[in-house]
Amino acid sequence: MVIVHVSAECYPMAKAGGLGDVVGALPKYQNKQGDKAVVVMPMYKTPFLQENNWEVQYKGNTNLGNWFFDYTIIKESTGKLGYDLYLVDINGLLDRPKIYGYTDDMDRFIGFQVAVVNWLSQWAELPSIVHCHDHQAGLIPFMMKYCYDYQKLEKVKTVLSIHNAQYQGTMGWDKSILIPRWDISKKGLLEWNNCINSLATAVKCAGKVTTVSPSYLQQLTVQSNGLEILFKNEQSKCVGILNGIDNEIWDPSTDTMVPFHYNSKTVDAGKQKNKNALCAKYNLDNSKPLIVFIGRLVAEKAADVLPGAIQHALDKTNLGANFFIIGAGDTSTESALHYLLQLYQGQYNTFIGYDEKIGHEAYAAADFLLMPSRVEPCGLNQLYALRYGTIPMVRDTGGLHDTVIDMGDAGGFGIKFLHATEADIVYSVERAIEVYKNKNQMKVMVNTAMQMDHSWESVIAAYRKVYQSII
Ligand code: GLC
Repeated sequence: MVIVHVSAECYPMAKAGGLGDVVGALPKYQNKQGDKAVVVMPMYKTPFLQENNWEVQYKGNTNLGNWFFDYTIIKESTGKLGYDLYLVDINGLLDRPKIYGYTDDMDRFIGFQVAVVNWLSQWAELPSIVHCHDHQAGLIPFMMKYCYDYQKLEKVKTVLSIHNAQYQGTMGWDKSILIPRWDISKKGLLEWNNCINSLATAVKCAGKVTTVSPSYLQQLTVQSNGLEILFKNEQSKCVGILNGIDNEIWDPSTDTMVPFHYNSKTVDAGKQKNKNALCAKYNLDNSKPLIVFIGRLVAEKAADVLPGAIQHALDKTNLGANFFIIGAGDTSTESALHYLLQLYQGQYNTFIGYDEKIGHEAYAAADFLLMPSRVEPCGLNQLYALRYGTIPMVRDTGGLHDTVIDMGDAGGFGIKFLHATEADIVYSVERAIEVYKNKNQMKVMVNTAMQMDHSWESVIAAYRKVYQSII
């Protein structure tokens, strides 16, 4: 089966969040199991672009409304990623340092999608599946079916994977001229609430829709930023498939970003060594439990609740814990986190920014990983934490609901709470401190956590079933 993944992110070329991790790993494991999976994404100006070798695969031209442009498809030339990575180079539109955050993002991603379908329509042998990820690839299923110039692609099957339905690629009808000549009788497929909505269009037009966890799929029917009815109506074509993680990258016994390696037998000593190193570097107390948060500092992740919760937790005199927060995002949260530095020296620190290496060091050093997310379609950080024997403390939602069992329940290895509030977080911190003192219980939980299997190998079959159901 030939599968073409279309995405705005793919690690290590460009990553803003979990989408990049998933698209960077899924095709590798599909290839290992005998499929031919490739990735096509925009050519941003990232370090990975500059540091690697590329060969020109195709040169074409098309138009975005009145703007006629040339594009080039280049391919990573060594194949070292485990899949062919193709980049779409559109001069002036995509070749910029950042993935998102420009005022013309809508035009950029439509331009990207137009170039992708234009290129695909030139393939001598068409792929079996075009697998689109999130709204930045959401117009492709529509274009393949209803654009006059791309009739050749009409019968190729499409799948949409939703990693985050908060972002929908909504735009005014003035943008409709950017979509290559299309069948006007299909206008309703582009429309949601008087706008063009790329995600809604993809849900309507794709052959199958997947979400990155089963619980998130259920949640979308009651809470999806205005698309609830759509998800209710389209239930029969939707399935929830939990993400996997790349066990080759995320392995505490080999991780090159981690100073002291360990496995499930040596986790006690190994973690303590990593913790000593991190605590020394960031002025934290290595004798107390270390609770970390790693992620974007945005409302979706409930990062705004963190400063208050940390303050309350540390003010409670009987609580002995350390907090270390890694992330960047909303400036008000960044400055509130920064402000805490002067109040809680020796028990609290923060790294404002995004740094893959510090992230890995923190998973290896931490005792607990806090994820109070308001919305979490799957969540990968709790899965990384499990691999590193770090106990997840999570809000009971979406993928967190599906992957963590509370320590109060049979076989439990985590801490779950209901609300993204200071009170719930402080209560969970108290539970964490209690269990940390109970060395035996902690040991059992750490071991159970490390035995959880979220490898991609077990997920690939579920995707293949989805593909086969429409081919
Ligand atoms: C998005 C979601 C996250 C998910 C990831 C990969 O970043 O917010 O929950 O794990 O995509 O699917």
